[in-house]
Amino acid sequence: MCVSTCLLGATKHGLLDTDLVSINIGARNDNKQSQKEKIVVADKTLTLDQFRTLRKDNWWVAPLLVVVGLGGFAIYATWAALQNAHYYYEPYLSPFYSPCIADNCTHVTLPLIGSWWNLSPAFLILWIPGGFRATCYYYRKAYYRSFFLSPPACAVRDAGKSYSGETRFPFLFQNLHRYFFYLSLVILVFLWWDALLAFKFPDGIGMGVGTIVLCINAALLTIFSLSCNSCRHICGGYLNSFHSAPGKYKTWSFITRLNEMHMEYAWVSLIWVALTDLYVRLLSMGAITDLRFF
Ligand code: FES
Repeated sequence: MCVSTCLLGATKHGLLDTDLVSINIGARNDNKQSQKEKIVVADKTLTLDQFRTLRKDNWWVAPLLVVVGLGGFAIYATWAALQNAHYYYEPYLSPFYSPCIADNCTHVTLPLIGSWWNLSPAFLILWIPGGFRATCYYYRKAYYRSFFLSPPACAVRDAGKSYSGETRFPFLFQNLHRYFFYLSLVILVFLWWDALLAFKFPDGIGMGVGTIVLCINAALLTIFSLSCNSCRHICGGYLNSFHSAPGKYKTWSFITRLNEMHMEYAWVSLIWVALTDLYVRLLSMGAITDLRFF
């Protein structure tokens, strides 16, 4: 536990009312030291256990936004996958169903799964991008804070009494992130293929709003994937020295620059992929019409 350290950090950054607060770490004379840490607030001495936080700012806004954003996306994606309909409007295929690999697809991309599969074909695919995002280092921080309150924010006490990190089931599976990254690259190839096919209309080559939507979707997901920490590691981060690998240094430097905006790419690509599905869905349902440029 770093309660004292975090409190001190929050005080230093002006998050606490420093006129009213002082912290007494006390002597570290036994392993129950943290229980004995005292804090003085408005002339009253209390133990740190009596506080969830002393922060005065709106620290809860960020975790709340993540709950709304990630929760909303999870609900929408599950609903869209369960529909098993309105995911194709020629020539646009929803990314939630791409590649479509079962015989029961409205538009089969690759017939890998036979007719025995009678559930929504989205379930054959969504576990890959879902697993990729669920094990992402950024998303882990975001949902540990927002959904598990572990901790909700810096200098705010964990909701749980104990903390085991990622050493136990099911969190051990977070170590599979690199393999989800590899699988996501395969999905990306198909998304670019879909973007290319989005120029091929029944009456010939053309371009509609949907074409642009699918191209942006593939581009955003590519940038998000390339900015991944695992990608950065694979592209040179594993080396102890770049001295004899200038090519890898250049690649690693490029990925590092992308990585600095990983959180932003994560959110923009997440929202856009949902909007792309929604656009194709509304076209297929006849709720809107696609604007053709040529
Ligand atoms: S996708 Fe976020 S760290 Fe890999």
